[in-house]
Amino acid sequence: MMKRIPLAGVLGNPIAQSKSPKLHGYWLRKYGLLGHYVPVHVTEDDLESVVRAMPKMGFVGANVTLPHKIAVMQFADQITDRATLIGAANTLTFKEDGRIIADNTDGYGFMANLHQNAPDWDPKAGPAVVLGAGGAARAIIVALADAGVTEILLTNRTRAKSDALRAEFGARIRVVDWVQAGNILEEAATVINTTSLGMVGNAELRVPLDGLRQGTLVTDIVYSPLRTKLLEDADAMGCVTVDGLGMLLHQGVPGFERWFGVRPQVDDETRRVVLG
Ligand code: ATR
Repeated sequence: MMKRIPLAGVLGNPIAQSKSPKLHGYWLRKYGLLGHYVPVHVTEDDLESVVRAMPKMGFVGANVTLPHKIAVMQFADQITDRATLIGAANTLTFKEDGRIIADNTDGYGFMANLHQNAPDWDPKAGPAVVLGAGGAARAIIVALADAGVTEILLTNRTRAKSDALRAEFGARIRVVDWVQAGNILEEAATVINTTSLGMVGNAELRVPLDGLRQGTLVTDIVYSPLRTKLLEDADAMGCVTVDGLGMLLHQGVPGFERWFGVRPQVDDETRRVVLG
């Protein structure tokens, strides 16, 4: 049988805003590879039948974004330990026989972004403050714990969600009330905004930053705008800041490598292409 041109894509609803087609399309061109990467708009009801049909159409894998990251776990044939721990999947790989393997590379992307853009950052230097307790926070908490962060100060508007994460991920997490968030920053060696606050169209993050120490690493998962008010203010206070775009770019690396056989580089040109 003739070898088919490999296809990959990103499944979501909505999907038009996704930067993944630009990212993977650029990598395919850059490395001179045969293949296509397409945005796939799919409803919750159709998710399983669409995914099951994909291998038959020549798809070798897919990224999964909101709101499907949890739902795909229900019918995947194999789930990596990492995805199980996080409770969500963002990267599917289809085996030749159509079996679906679900993985989560968000934590990898988060960590690779920090290593690339703040090479002197030491996860063991002190407590990490995590703002927010949604899906992104779960992947980041698992990644921080893996990297050896000894204490995670977790704060969220809805306290019950932080308490639930503490119950699940254990004693390394200390839950702090949202209104107290400003008061724990002086303890922090690392501060991460995992909420959607500060994103274009959303409210600003209003946590008072005066407690931040010089040299603290501050990062945001929001990348639109690229320089959020949090990063601008932290910068002005002498913190080391890393924007959220790199997390998005790096989370795409393991999938691309598995599907197309080349481990792609994340560099300035990648950033320019995805932003442009
Ligand atoms: P994701 O999967 O991208 O993390 P999510 O699960 O909806 O998305 O989580 C969004 C996060 O942003 C949550 O921590 C949410 O806080 P709540 O758990 O209290 O909802 C936080 N967030 C969103 N809007 C907020 C606001 N106006 N003030 C404070 N936190 C907010």
